[in-house]
Amino acid sequence: MAGCFITFEGGEGAGKSTQIERLKRRLEALDQPVLVTREPGGSTRAEEIRAFILGGHAKHLGPFAEALLFAAARIDHLDKTIVPALERGTHVLCDRFADSTRAYQGSAGNIDKALIDQLERVTLRGSKPDLTFILDLPAETGLARARERQAGRGESADRFEGEAASFHHSLRRAFLSIARDEPKRCVVINADQEPDEVEAAIWASLRERLPQLAQSRAPDEALRPLDVA
Ligand SMILES: Nc1ncnc2c1ncn2[C@@H]1O[C@H](COP(=O)(O)OP(=O)(O)OP(=O)(O)O)[C@@H](O)[C@H]1O
Ligand SMILES: [Mg+2]
Repeated sequence: MAGCFITFEGGEGAGKSTQIERLKRRLEALDQPVLVTREPGGSTRAEEIRAFILGGHAKHLGPFAEALLFAAARIDHLDKTIVPALERGTHVLCDRFADSTRAYQGSAGNIDKALIDQLERVTLRGSKPDLTFILDLPAETGLARARERQAGRGESADRFEGEAASFHHSLRRAFLSIARDEPKRCVVINADQEPDEVEAAIWASLRERLPQLAQSRAPDEALRPLDVA
């Protein structure tokens, strides 16, 4: 059985990484095989592109060239990491994916939607997520969380966290609009609540949308008839 492809989207500090780890633990407790990965990155070449983009080196090229770099990274990530995992029956939990390109470069970066659509088609080649959680909260709340986390680790803001407030507001609108356009694939989760509550909302929605994942996967031994000879 092929694995399920689940992506987590939302603005800065929405709680994507936190919730992916929690979902991974829940699935593993049910013996479901899981791979956690992220964008940009998730493969050797794509991680090199990630360092270039998030280091701010692509900013002066403009949002379209940035979108092309994300696409190049995504192609390698799909080919080397995501598709092979799905084919061997492992579920893939991905921290950001193509909707982030739509929101960051498309809506907030003002790239024409038709162009983003075309780019997405040739990049994904049919590998659309089965389910996407859009973690929604006011931009200010997410940015404050991200800043607090960075202060704790002695880090500075990355390429996108440094953008103006209007950029982050348009990101939120963009993610909500994607969810409205594709209600079968996307679920909006209220991320402005305690981590346990966000986790429960994600789990409830996963049980409804992909019930086969929320069940224990019997170990191979249990599936074999008893050897009575
Ligand atoms: N529901 C929550 N309430 C309060 N704080 C939270 C919540 N979820 C996560 N946090 C904290 O907020 C910070 C950001 O969370 P996290 O790193 O999971 O977000 P993210 O969406 O992955 O952010 P980024 O886009 O920067 O990668 C972390 O310090 C995390 O511990
Ligand atoms: Mg994160």
